[in-house]
Amino acid sequence: SRTAVVIPAAGRGVRLGPGAPKALRALNGTPILIHAVRAMAASRAVSLVIVVAPPDGAPEVKTLLDDHALPERTDFLVVPGGDSRQESVRAGLDALPPGIDIVLVHDAARPLVPVDTVDGVIAAVREGAPAVVPALPLTDTVKQVEPAAAPGDAEPVVATPERARLRAVQTPQGFDRATLVRAHETVTDNVTDDASMVEQLGLPVVVVPGHEEAFKVTRPLDLLLAEAVLARRRA
Ligand code: CTP
Ligand code: MG
Repeated sequence: SRTAVVIPAAGRGVRLGPGAPKALRALNGTPILIHAVRAMAASRAVSLVIVVAPPDGAPEVKTLLDDHALPERTDFLVVPGGDSRQESVRAGLDALPPGIDIVLVHDAARPLVPVDTVDGVIAAVREGAPAVVPALPLTDTVKQVEPAAAPGDAEPVVATPERARLRAVQTPQGFDRATLVRAHETVTDNVTDDASMVEQLGLPVVVVPGHEEAFKVTRPLDLLLAEAVLARRRA
């Protein structure tokens, strides 16, 4: 079986604050996207990486990939993304060549995921799961709230799900190719991950262990954490 990775990297990174699109910002002097691409290409099972660039940024991203050392055994494609993560992933799926039967979707914003996590996801898909998500237990208790009655009002709590049964889901998420393509053709609601679209098809999604270092760079504090993780790796 051949495995490809789609890396949605077309987001602006609003929560990180003003600046270049998040995937193009530097982490330790190297763009976040390049870290993410290297993390995926580190798996010997990955033969193709499709990067979904900001809508007007595909030429710049192509140049970036050419300018950084990447493994020879992996092929790279760049396509322009869309206004939502879902549209961007779909643009990546549309670029898949024949002969790929396993597809991973990995956020560019998770530059430090260890290769063992990537390989664990691929192994679970190879063993027959149509969809696989890496996940970790939560440390915070989670409350479900109602929207505030008026702007400025407090949000009433309506429920507290049992924390032990909740999981924080990361990427790469792994899929049987045909399943993921069908999910993207069928499900039109706005979702925040790809596996939830497969759930909506009524197909099983299985969880494998995630990793602390697969956290998403979302807010400024996450950049500090990422720098610290890289410093620890070098030590
Ligand atoms: N993404 C994408 N296309 C979009 C929106 C998001 O490819 N239209 C990608 C981002 O580049 C990121 C991943 O989806 O790698 C996860 O999204 P998120 O962390 O929310 O990134 P942004 O949308 O860029 O950040 P923000 O929501 O703070 O603007
Ligand atoms: Mg976003």
